[in-house]
Amino acid sequence: MQIELEVIEGPSQGSRYEFDGYQAFVLGRAAKGASDFRIPTDPYFSRYHMLFEFAGGHCVLRDMDSRNGVFVNDQRIQEATLSDGDLIRAGRSVLRVHVVQHDDPLWPAHAPPPCEGDRLGRYKLLGCIAEGAQGSIFEATGGADGGRVALKVLHPHAGTGTKAKQYFEREVEILAALRHPRIVPLIESGREGPRLWLAMDLIEGPNLEELVDLEGPLDPGLARRFAVQVLEALLYAHAKRVIHRDLKPVNLLVQRREEVADILIADFGLARPSQELGLQPLTATGEMRGTPQFMPPEQVMNAKHAGPASDLYGLGATLYWALTKAWHIEGNPDSGNVWQLILGGQRVPVTERVPDLPQDLAHVIETCLAKEARNRFQSAAAALRALGLDDPDGEAVTRG
Ligand SMILES: Nc1ncnc2c1ncn2[C@@H]1O[C@H](COP(=O)(O)OP(=O)(O)O)[C@@H](O)[C@H]1O
Ligand SMILES: [Mg+2]
Repeated sequence: MQIELEVIEGPSQGSRYEFDGYQAFVLGRAAKGASDFRIPTDPYFSRYHMLFEFAGGHCVLRDMDSRNGVFVNDQRIQEATLSDGDLIRAGRSVLRVHVVQHDDPLWPAHAPPPCEGDRLGRYKLLGCIAEGAQGSIFEATGGADGGRVALKVLHPHAGTGTKAKQYFEREVEILAALRHPRIVPLIESGREGPRLWLAMDLIEGPNLEELVDLEGPLDPGLARRFAVQVLEALLYAHAKRVIHRDLKPVNLLVQRREEVADILIADFGLARPSQELGLQPLTATGEMRGTPQFMPPEQVMNAKHAGPASDLYGLGATLYWALTKAWHIEGNPDSGNVWQLILGGQRVPVTERVPDLPQDLAHVIETCLAKEARNRFQSAAAALRALGLDDPDGEAVTRG
């Protein structure tokens, strides 16, 4: 499903905006450059006026605490599900909603979900490990030497459109280009009828969210180890001009070997080559999935602005949560105003919650979490140096 907005009245009459299920965006009279979706000439627009977001196959519109309100078909709303033909009034502007359905003959609207026992390529599915928004992760047999692998399967069902397929294909392409000990390795990918799949090494441990939920907040020593490992992977990915854009605890996998734990970055489903980010057309603005809790303000406003410093913010927010089980911003990340809080909320210093945190680690987390990207570290290498790791040849080495 794709939504098209046409401005039919007001100073920007004739403008069109489009977006789809992978995206959310803020429409407002935001500062120049902050968002492509702004109606700068309508003085009755608030800076952040309203938010369009996809959830469960529907497009939901929310008033972001605007001064003058948001009206759908002349009713003032806080939140409304949009349908084809709806008229949205905000400030002096009226926008008409068009819901566009794209049909792709190779990608039917529905297919039975993959399940235990199914064969994909040379793999046979065992149990489902995780059910994602766009696909499922299975454990499977058929790896080299009869070993087990993890299989990510995308299949057409409610909420996955052609776009999901494009994103999946891109994920495969990006993952295939990345070979690093701290990035989940791709084995191969394929297609079985309407199912696209990719096989990766099976990481037996929990993801970071599960680890913290099971065992409580990380101790600072382990947090530092994970921080260094993720930074090394980012140093590598950024050098290859790939921005992950979705760093959060569920996308970091923990691998345990006897007494030590290592972390690997997974889920390059939102990753993009950085040179493309500056060139994307309007339709690529504000891509977003799941919780925005770990997402930097510039990406909430406009995904085109995601750069290496955006991944550092994701890492900072993740480390903060893993050390405290709390959000770094005052307020509730599960509330409807999570967007406003990311853009304008107050940060709680990590040392307020973990007073004995080593100073350099606290400094790295705080710097990664600066609201303005330019106030963060400008590279993973700079963050590694702040943790006392030199990287004379641009290649840091994990210690311990
Ligand atoms: N290679 C893997 N080995 C083991 N578990 C994995 C692997 N890849 C993903 N998972 C599990 O599946 C979950 C979802 O995977 P992810 O790639 O993030 O999918 P999605 O795009 O649906 O978010 C992860 O949080 C993790 O728990
Ligand atoms: Mg994920």
